[in-house]
Amino acid sequence: MEKFLSLEQIDEAANFIRSRITASPQIGMILGSGLGSLADLIEAPQFIEFAEIPFCPVSTVEGHKGRLVIGKLEGKQVMVLQGRIHYYEGYSMDQVTFPVRVMQRLGVEYLIVTNAAGAIHPSYMPGDVMLITDHISLMTMTGANPLRGPNLREVGERFPDMSQAYDRPLMALAREVAAQEGVSLCEGVYIGLAGPSYETPADLRFLRVIGADAVGMSTVPEVIVARHGGMRVLGFSGISNKANLDGNTITTHEEVLKAGEIIVPKLQKIILGVLRKLSV
Ligand code: HPA
Repeated sequence: MEKFLSLEQIDEAANFIRSRITASPQIGMILGSGLGSLADLIEAPQFIEFAEIPFCPVSTVEGHKGRLVIGKLEGKQVMVLQGRIHYYEGYSMDQVTFPVRVMQRLGVEYLIVTNAAGAIHPSYMPGDVMLITDHISLMTMTGANPLRGPNLREVGERFPDMSQAYDRPLMALAREVAAQEGVSLCEGVYIGLAGPSYETPADLRFLRVIGADAVGMSTVPEVIVARHGGMRVLGFSGISNKANLDGNTITTHEEVLKAGEIIVPKLQKIILGVLRKLSV
């Protein structure tokens, strides 16, 4: 039986968080596999474990701490999910996207999403940072859409537009910062799959043909919910491995986490620069 969450449950979680923090952040961030250390830069951090938050699922994956970190980055109040919830862990789409809904109810207007992804684009390499310009939502096309079920009218409309899921002015800002900081930033389309098994070479050739540049197991549901709630979204994939189109390489979670160490400093420069330039 699918688990839908009500507005009352979302608000109970939001009220709990509100009672624990002094700030009211307008910027939310989700840090993907191996990228959680970005939250270590937050000044005067306050921590809330996912397990403490009413109705919040807990992250079961290595490389995902599973807590909220609230504080200041570049003078801006931020709320960061250090670790995320994945569909493959067995949670419903409503549970996977619950933290985004809660952020929305807490007044978050900007969402920066990051993930680890495999490169499908032939010239993208492990260690690259890819600005997500659009996504292919294969997992929701076949039914597992986080907006399936009763529509919460108070948070968004029944049939939300997704023509600009990733915010164009924010993308322009990211490109500008990358150029100023001398960080190379590639761009492309992210495809979100359910996981947890990695793709076969035939899967990957199919994904390439339909226009994907990088593949991962997250982000898309969160972005759909964020856009449903009117948030402006900026997304980055940290390229952790070459997707195995020829069948001769093996992808491991360890490799994905290791690549994070190269990606974090680059991503950090871009995200901090964007925060500096944001007028909130
Ligand atoms: N495939 C799917 N998800 C991933 C990959 C990949 O190659 N790398 C990191 N997350």
